[in-house]
Amino acid sequence: MATPQTTLTIPALNSHLAQVFAQYPIEVAHGEGVWLHARDGRKILDFYGGHAVAGLGYGHPRWLAALERQARQMAFQTNALPMVIRERAAARLTKFVGLGLDTVFWINSGAEANENALKVAFKQTGRSKIVALEQGFHGRTAAAGAVTWGAFEKWYGFPRRPFDVRFAPRDKPAAVDEFVDRETAAVIVEPVQGVGGAYDVGKPMLQALRRRCDEVGALLIFDEVQCGTGRTGAPFAANFYGVVPDMITAAKALGNGFPVSALLMSQRVAGHLKHDDMGTTFGGGPMACAVAEAVIDTIESESLLANVRQVSAYICSSCIIGPVTGVQGAGFLLGLKTSRPAKEVQAALLAKNILTGTSADPNILRLLPAYILNEGHVDQLSDALSRISA
Ligand SMILES: Cc1ncc(COP(=O)(O)O)c(C=O)c1O
Repeated sequence: MATPQTTLTIPALNSHLAQVFAQYPIEVAHGEGVWLHARDGRKILDFYGGHAVAGLGYGHPRWLAALERQARQMAFQTNALPMVIRERAAARLTKFVGLGLDTVFWINSGAEANENALKVAFKQTGRSKIVALEQGFHGRTAAAGAVTWGAFEKWYGFPRRPFDVRFAPRDKPAAVDEFVDRETAAVIVEPVQGVGGAYDVGKPMLQALRRRCDEVGALLIFDEVQCGTGRTGAPFAANFYGVVPDMITAAKALGNGFPVSALLMSQRVAGHLKHDDMGTTFGGGPMACAVAEAVIDTIESESLLANVRQVSAYICSSCIIGPVTGVQGAGFLLGLKTSRPAKEVQAALLAKNILTGTSADPNILRLLPAYILNEGHVDQLSDALSRISA
């Protein structure tokens, strides 16, 4: 068997890339389902899913077929030319979500979706303040970074935030009224925080935010870039918690690896839009729309939401073992609480050919597997964990 590498030594591959990413010691050659095949011959069980992107796993035949079909027919066309696939994918996505969020603006990344959601909120309310939650992550662009907890102190880079932001505690529904007031344009929240540690903000907090936004005329934005598109075992976290926001942003698993994001809006929001309020070149491209449609079709036709719920429950019952003392999160956005630094547990698992993620919480190991994961895969994880010291 090949000896596991501990460092990535591929200078030719790295030499022209901006050195801004810490990298794991695996060079991926190809993927198949929930498996990564490394160039050194290792076969690695992937509980990280390319940072929550590979919802269907790698090389899913329906995803491949949709991409190929659309690439042959028309790979790209501007939004100025109407296309059936763009309309059909929007109808498919809004039907999947339900909840009256019936208007879609297609863009390309999570940050771009959030950027547009915030802009829409400012325009509609005429206000200049946003409330976000502590430990929340919303992306790297000017507005999305401004509402990301800790960004300004760590990596923001722009000379100042473009608007006022207040960060509220994520676990104090009673404190919501103090933060959200009549100057607040919107509250942006990840219902299950990803980078913040697979932390389930929870129904009481989301309900408190909804109630207060209604009271003061602010809009509620659910950033479901990481926790949406099936990851909680419901279509979106809004469905999972039964709390309806004014806007949802979706990305990551929506394209299963092809860049696509969406801003979903209620009629209350979309009714205010005018021509030219938003724009994009690549957003709504036919290939992006074809994969989004295929992803949703596949989630439904292969009963993947039920699988996420069932296998998630199995992880919760079988993986509190070895260095793991508890589990938080929802569905397939789970945080294993570790008695040792999560980075050490992650490295020990990788040495056993299992890839997991970490988070901003040093004692949370983050799992973001593909929705096709089964209980046999989980047995491999729990077996590996049982062989790691606490
Ligand atoms: C909740 C959340 N929002 C927004 C983003 C930013 O998405 P992108 O990297 O596609 O811009 C991320 C990325 O990790 C995320 O987890």
